Amino acid sequence: MYENLLVEKHERVAVLTINRPNKLNALNIATRNEILAALDALQSDAEVRVLVITGAGDKAFIAGADIGEFAGQTALSQREVMTQRRAFDAMEAFPKPVIAMINGFCLGGGLELALSCDIRVASEQAKLGQPEINLGVIPGGGGTQRLAHLVGEGKAMEMILTGEMITAAEAHALGLVNHVFAHAELREKTMALAARIAEKSPVALRMAKEAVKTAARSGLDEGLRREVDLFALCFASEDKEEGVRAFLEKRKPNFVGR
Ligand code: COA
Repeated sequence: MYENLLVEKHERVAVLTINRPNKLNALNIATRNEILAALDALQSDAEVRVLVITGAGDKAFIAGADIGEFAGQTALSQREVMTQRRAFDAMEAFPKPVIAMINGFCLGGGLELALSCDIRVASEQAKLGQPEINLGVIPGGGGTQRLAHLVGEGKAMEMILTGEMITAAEAHALGLVNHVFAHAELREKTMALAARIAEKSPVALRMAKEAVKTAARSGLDEGLRREVDLFALCFASEDKEEGVRAFLEKRKPNFVGR
């Protein structure tokens, strides 16, 4: 269905794989557009409660924007590309939880896409970095903002100014990835994490994600007000009734997403 993506579904978890292994899954414009189309389809697919995103092959998650497409671009044509609807922002705004399963090189736009996800897990073989400075440019897919927000200005500054890659263990120490798994166990452990999240109420997951995201985009007072509204909104769902009743009846809840 897609030229550069694979989409599989395993019960309530969808796996979206960037499938250009010969180019280390570099994000060309066509692939970024396909990601937007896939996110739209997955958003309206009620069977899908959690999304995992990864790269094809054993070597790379995503080795960045497709550098071949930079050649010959003018400032104006490049700006045009970057001011249309973007995969990075659509990933962050996707209303269901998204886990980046970082299976290898995670560079430039690849790290920026991972930063737009909710949770990052990495293979012990992964290497992460913002190497744009080596090309005479800077991160343009949100890296200067989202990386600094996640790991702090000083650490982000060092990664962006040196362009050097860090190991998965270093990324873990920075809080850039939540877990580092043995390469052979990456998929199994990631899918287990995704499945645990997928058991929760889709309504509450959506409200929780929106509330946490508000913190990054607003001051504390506005964030706390928004949290109260979203918390109260959960009380409009059947899932809240079911979750509370199941607890009181000492049984497992069955969440339906309403
Ligand atoms: N854009 C376009 N093509 C890319 C790419 C990118 N970001 N990253 C890798 N590729 C291509 C290579 O050109 C090569 O294609 P070819 O076989 O047709 O020549 C193929 O993927 C394999 O990459 P290669 O460089 O041979 O692998 P390697 O193991 O020697 O090096 C990297 C791996 C990740 C260190 C290296 O590919 C690299 O530095 N990539 C660019 C990373 C980058 O700067 N990203 C930010 C872009 S803004």
